[in-house]
Amino acid sequence: MSFDDRQFRDALGAFPTGVAVITAVTADGERLGMTVSSFNSVSITPPLVLFSVVRRAHSFAAWMQVTRYAVNILSQDQEDISNRFARPLADKWNGLIVIDGETSVPLLPNALASFECEPHAHVDGGDHVIFLGRVVALRTTPLRRAQPLIFYGGRYRRLDAGFQDEPPRDAHIFEGW
Ligand SMILES: Cc1cc2nc3c(=O)[nH]c(=O)nc-3n(C[C@H](O)[C@H](O)[C@H](O)COP(=O)(O)O)c2cc1C
Repeated sequence: MSFDDRQFRDALGAFPTGVAVITAVTADGERLGMTVSSFNSVSITPPLVLFSVVRRAHSFAAWMQVTRYAVNILSQDQEDISNRFARPLADKWNGLIVIDGETSVPLLPNALASFECEPHAHVDGGDHVIFLGRVVALRTTPLRRAQPLIFYGGRYRRLDAGFQDEPPRDAHIFEGW
């Protein structure tokens, strides 16, 4: 190969992404949460999304077992939440207020959107496993001016001020949130 891991990582950093926290509860009632930038949309019909989990993650085995999980898309005000769920802490949930999702998965308040999923497939992805989730419920923020947290070049970023007044055209507003 004509490149090393560092060069590969740096080149991948040229692709800007949002930041999400995946959340779930194990059969033993333990809450799981992990920051991911590998989220993406896959299919509209059926509604499928994906993210990948590194095999060496502390919680990897638990993620492979859960029968429901949620993907919470972070806003630019949730950098601290991203950092909290990017560390292998014993209790990442200490002091956090959560919302119970329709499928009883814990959802993060003030996320721009939360997708509750059932596992559709686990696909080998080298040192990661790709989780394909079938979306069974969703909620979106009513905050019209909420902006996403962005990860680019190995750092958090914000959208340019020029986007401030333009909420997504088809944004669905959830009345009760
Ligand atoms: C912005 C950002 C994006 C990340 N994206 C991913 C990802 O897509 N997949 C992954 O496995 N880890 C990702 N991580 C690293 C995990 O969040 C981190 O390894 C976490 O500690 C795993 O939790 P655990 O070790 O408690 O299981 C990301 C971290 C950050 C800060």
